[in-house]
Amino acid sequence: MTEIQQGPSARGDDPPATAPKLQPFALKDAPALIEAVFPAQKVSFEAQRERKAVQSQTLTGLGSYWKGRKPLILVRAIVLGSLLPQTDDPEKDLEIFEKLMAFDEGGLARRALENNVFKPDDIARALTLDNPWRYFTYKVQAMGLSAGEISHWRFPLDPAKEGIRIRWRKECTEAMKLDLYARMLACLPDYETRAGLSKRPEEMDQSALHAPIWPDVNAHLGHLGIAAHSHPELVEQLGILRYGHRPRVGDTFCGGGSIPFEAARLGCDVYASDLNPIACMLTWGALDIIGASPEKRAEIERAQREVAEAVDREITALGIEHDSQGNRAKAYLYCLETRCPETGWMVPMAPSWVISNSRNVIAKLVPNPVSRSFCIQIVIGVSTAEMKAAEQGTVRDGNLVYERDGKTYRTPIKTLRGDYRDADGNTFNRLRHWERTDFKPRSTDIFQERLYCIQWITRDSLNQSRKETFFAAVTEEDLEREYQVESSVAANLARWQGEGLVPDLAIEPGDKTDEPIRTRGWMYWHQLFSPRQLLSLALIKQSIIKRKEPAVFLALAKALDWQNKGCYYGTGASRESISHMFSNQALNLLFNYGCRSFQALKPVLLETQPGAFFSARSILCNSAANGIKETSQIFVTDPPYADAVMYHEITEFFIAWFRKNPPPPFDQWTWDSRRDLAIKGSGDDFRRGMVDAYKAMTEHMPDNGMQCVMFTHQDTGVWSDMVSIFWASGLQVVGAWYIATETTSELKKGGYVQGTVILMLRKRPAGDRPGFKQRILPEVKREVAAQIRQMLHLNTETEAKMGAPVFNDSDLQMAGYAAALKVLTGYTSIGGEDVTAFALRPRRKGETTVVDEIVEQAAETANGLLVPEGLDRETWGSIGGIQRFYLRMLDMETTGAAKLDNYQNFAKAFRVQDYAAVMASIKPNAARLKSVTEFKPRDLTDRTEIGPAPLGALIVAIQEFLAEKEPEVVMANLRDALVDYLDKRPVLIDIADFIGAKARGPEIRRAAEAIASRIRNQRLQ
Ligand SMILES: C[S@@+](CC[C@H](N)C(=O)[O-])C[C@H]1O[C@@H](n2cnc3c(N)ncnc32)[C@H](O)[C@@H]1O
Repeated sequence: MTEIQQGPSARGDDPPATAPKLQPFALKDAPALIEAVFPAQKVSFEAQRERKAVQSQTLTGLGSYWKGRKPLILVRAIVLGSLLPQTDDPEKDLEIFEKLMAFDEGGLARRALENNVFKPDDIARALTLDNPWRYFTYKVQAMGLSAGEISHWRFPLDPAKEGIRIRWRKECTEAMKLDLYARMLACLPDYETRAGLSKRPEEMDQSALHAPIWPDVNAHLGHLGIAAHSHPELVEQLGILRYGHRPRVGDTFCGGGSIPFEAARLGCDVYASDLNPIACMLTWGALDIIGASPEKRAEIERAQREVAEAVDREITALGIEHDSQGNRAKAYLYCLETRCPETGWMVPMAPSWVISNSRNVIAKLVPNPVSRSFCIQIVIGVSTAEMKAAEQGTVRDGNLVYERDGKTYRTPIKTLRGDYRDADGNTFNRLRHWERTDFKPRSTDIFQERLYCIQWITRDSLNQSRKETFFAAVTEEDLEREYQVESSVAANLARWQGEGLVPDLAIEPGDKTDEPIRTRGWMYWHQLFSPRQLLSLALIKQSIIKRKEPAVFLALAKALDWQNKGCYYGTGASRESISHMFSNQALNLLFNYGCRSFQALKPVLLETQPGAFFSARSILCNSAANGIKETSQIFVTDPPYADAVMYHEITEFFIAWFRKNPPPPFDQWTWDSRRDLAIKGSGDDFRRGMVDAYKAMTEHMPDNGMQCVMFTHQDTGVWSDMVSIFWASGLQVVGAWYIATETTSELKKGGYVQGTVILMLRKRPAGDRPGFKQRILPEVKREVAAQIRQMLHLNTETEAKMGAPVFNDSDLQMAGYAAALKVLTGYTSIGGEDVTAFALRPRRKGETTVVDEIVEQAAETANGLLVPEGLDRETWGSIGGIQRFYLRMLDMETTGAAKLDNYQNFAKAFRVQDYAAVMASIKPNAARLKSVTEFKPRDLTDRTEIGPAPLGALIVAIQEFLAEKEPEVVMANLRDALVDYLDKRPVLIDIADFIGAKARGPEIRRAAEAIASRIRNQRLQ
């Protein structure tokens, strides 16, 4: 990383000696850029792209079992936006901000060039170039073309058609290429298309990506003494201007570490803490493995190799993975087995007996009447019909199902377990509760476990990169090895548990942790691992402890995730795979599972992480958020609001393995999930915990500090909760932005886009400021209107210059809320009630609080101002709900917008009950309204929201018109449909004109225009 320097440095593009010097605290009380402008759309798009990078996200490799890391690009934008000042030129402020984020044209061109998206042929066909041969050379392909002739050619042309092949000239410099790339990008319709073709900023070499921007940045901020040549330099200088030194960013809910990591990478010092030691370990990994120096990283990688090699030697010496031919196992497949209560037969359990789709391998159950059990054969190369039959396993829809002698037997799993209810309605079952010494079922247990297939790597391919494998049934020799493994575990378990090589911790019941107890009778964490898994993991841990390298603990955590009884064995079309436990956020147990041999587990231990060396000073604590002891100038937090992820429960799976003998610095932490202290849910306890946490942060922040809190955008109830919490903590809202961070899978109940609100807060000035609702409401209205007008103004100016507005309607709405809340949270009491008392008072169901009222007032005011272009202000003022929704979205669709979250946000804002009723599609990125002709009669009855409204009547009229009903009849029906037709005439004309201008189909537009003119010219008696 570039060394951080204070003040201007001596380089060619530095300001002259007379340039202003950095004045510590010169920006002490200056509003931050993020309080006024923020490129929320671009950040949203980049955040979603980062998410889509799945496993290649920078921090995911540290442990994909941790869910819900915040996108790094979002954190970067927040930290930069909180440090940069507003100048008197907001347009320029935004331009510079976009350069710093590499969202600008130049940045995009560099990102696109790195991706090599435009080939010379694409450029030849698209651009007008008078002298293309400065950039390209050509080879003649067609007969009869002369060099003289070609040298006069100009672009655009199609090289293939013209009979030439073109390539970049060697002499064509990067700057020249970038120039053409920028022109190519300019031909694309919007930012999303341009950025979609480009590398993500994070994937680029940072100094090359940003090298050209510094003269512009320094020119814009030079009057403050800024002279930076890298982000860390800029951050340090801005810190000096605001706080007198390099800024520290704090996050007391640091989780997987994305906030402290990105802040550190940007050049800030960081304070990170979390109640959960696994969160701390991952944050430590982000800062001390990914952020480590190349030498340190090499050391870590060496330690990982040594551990893997040592364990490999031990496993090989034990002879538990090799057969007598020298083949080595890759995967072991295990299933449960149970006695059928009807027949007394032992039946292996699995939802499918397919072993390999690519090689047509199945497990075949062959009855053995003597032992009243099934022998499991592995049959290779079976017919399609046999494959199909094997897809039906012996576990179907919660039942054990099998056939014997032409008869089908079916027993609910619940019955097998012996589920019953006690007098109080609590469910129990008859599974034996396993004891601490148990690591496999006892012979009398309801569920037995059985090895049914082994995938082997052939001896000859063991050392080759492409390994040959085959599947085989379990032999006597294999069972001998299983027995050897079990005996070894039996002999060592107590010692291992004592030394902390294997857990001895009981599973504490809970929402997620009930699952192993209820469905298997497993009462201790080590029981989620088979004997073979326990043996290899104990050996790994033993080897790690010897080496005292904490970084390898993260590799062990990953190995735990990938080596347990919750690992699903998958048979895709072309390959077989074993997944990991935490592909979702629960402890899901399986009837059959895949177990990796150590040979197959080794790569998990050897995985290396991307490097991003930085030299930030970081403090990491394992403590509750209210126990903070250090000061930070900026806090960025993502608190556990109504969290879907039960971090405190599921991380016990890992804590159980680490709590004894952790190496330094992990030995400083409390290896317990401390469920009682975890902030969770959304009730009164949650609010109390949050107020405690945010009060503590506010006390550890200077008066000119800044806070950013992220939370999921749900309904106004969420606003009410969150705002009262921050208000009670002594903070005042100063801004809010909406970021669409995730598009969830469509499989989950229709389209659903997850949006994150980022709420910006500052310390409320000291002193009492009592407020009264009657006085606050008009003040809110004024503030919201002023805020939106100012943003609309900036939109008009940027649109005129850049072709696209900065803010979309969601931004404007969010800014409206923020403006209202800024007014509200500036007071210390409302109507005599102190804000802390207000925040902590238990809520009654259905209660409307003063915050709800204010938020609603803000929404009303904001929405009242957001009149769709082409509609009369009065019409807009006189309609509400679904009509506003339909018309506003119709207007938005004319710009090509199709994001579901826009529709969702507006449905919320206009308080539409069932917006889906007017939608033709609710796909996350391809949402659209029903067009006039797509409405069915049942969509337009009096029982619907739209049916009785003038818009509903108009839709019917347009449909009738298109169905070639007599125009007089159409008009008469329209008149009859609305009781107050005469009063509604101006609104009807305006809406019909609007549809005439905005509807997608030309025939609909024509029909709407015709109806508008008929209403206009109607003779009224
Ligand atoms: C939503 S997560 C943070 C995720 C994080 N921003 C990331 O990018 O991975 C919330 C975190 O709050 C932590 N937490 C819950 N209660 C806490 C408390 N009382 N004090 C400190 N941390 C707590 C949880 O352990 C969890 O890691």
